[in-house]
Amino acid sequence: MAFSLSSLSTMFSKPTQSVLGIDIGTSSIKVVQLRREHGRVVLETYGAIALGPYAGVEIGRATSLSAEKIGEALKDVIREANVTTKDAAISIPYASSLISLVKLQSSLESQLASVMPIEARKYIPVPINEVLLDWFVVTGGKEAGKDGKIEVLLVAIHNDTIAKFRAMAADATLAVSFFEIEVFSAVRAALDHGLAPVAVVDMGAATTKFYIVERGLIRESHIINHGSQDMTLAASRGLGITVAQAEERKRKFGLLSIPENSIKQSLELSLTPLVAEIARTASTWEQSHNQSLGALVLTGGGATLKGLKEFMQAKIQNELRLSDPFGKTQAPAFLEAILKEAGPEFSVAVGLALRRLQDLG
Ligand SMILES: Nc1ncnc2c1ncn2[C@@H]1O[C@H](COP(=O)(O)OP(=O)(O)OP(=O)(O)O)[C@@H](O)[C@H]1O
Ligand SMILES: [Mg+2]
Repeated sequence: MAFSLSSLSTMFSKPTQSVLGIDIGTSSIKVVQLRREHGRVVLETYGAIALGPYAGVEIGRATSLSAEKIGEALKDVIREANVTTKDAAISIPYASSLISLVKLQSSLESQLASVMPIEARKYIPVPINEVLLDWFVVTGGKEAGKDGKIEVLLVAIHNDTIAKFRAMAADATLAVSFFEIEVFSAVRAALDHGLAPVAVVDMGAATTKFYIVERGLIRESHIINHGSQDMTLAASRGLGITVAQAEERKRKFGLLSIPENSIKQSLELSLTPLVAEIARTASTWEQSHNQSLGALVLTGGGATLKGLKEFMQAKIQNELRLSDPFGKTQAPAFLEAILKEAGPEFSVAVGLALRRLQDLG
């Protein structure tokens, strides 16, 4: 008999599988559990845990922790968020990866498997056998340039990084289906299928990541060494309050114009150079490509700063939008406002879980 009774019953009831996206950032770990139900994506649970306390520093600050400590925090957030699945996907930090746009003769498109490892040596400063290589054709086939060249996005991750993440996942008894560089996860969660080029700006603790995306493909990526923790540190110094107090006030009041917001001016002062850098990065791309960016989509915990969008919009020509990753999921209506507000912080974790659901079909 071809079917056993149990396989028949699973065929008919189609048990839906829950999947977990895990974003291990420098300042916190974010987890999002999703499930597909009747073709819709359901948000089952989500949570975040600050890594500061595991490193002996304040909440909201970037850390550099051992695999053991991160594993500990990962187990804690999984427990606290009532995660019920072991089926996980994990992001790899942008800073641990190397991404370059490679131009090749279009005749080589069918031979990338043998060409890219050789080509990669020109772009990657460590021996090729020490990295995991991946690539995506950005413009190829009929779209190859007038010069007969195709563009291939080359991605490399150091083996040690993968090993560290594997060890952490094993420690938390998770089954990891894939690792993905956070750029791709953030973009999947932040964007709809638009054609116009847009920028996705991930405002993290120590750095801000800037990605140019066109037709769903990442064209360019930059890192700006200025992040949300710099605002907290500046406010702490400027107002003579502790870093913990500054962080608490930053999250509570942000840039709101209300009398009790003593921190506004200080935050704005340290935010101004970052906004200028973002504006400059956007306009440099526009000028060199002779094309304007449809929008700048803000994501990352730093983008949840109250009043940020209005403040930035006054200084940036392009349309600004806040990433709304939970908008791609179904959740109880009473959570809607909270999810919209917290959304930018969870973009990477949502993007990972969405891909896992897609892969499961
Ligand atoms: N409600 C809030 N208002 C303002 N800032 C906030 C808020 N919540 C979090 N942040 C800030 O967001 C930053 C963390 O953002 P995020 O979680 O995206 O960083 P990360 O992923 O840990 O860092 P990275 O991506 O750079 O590794 C912290 O510096 C924190 O102060
Ligand atoms: Mg991050």
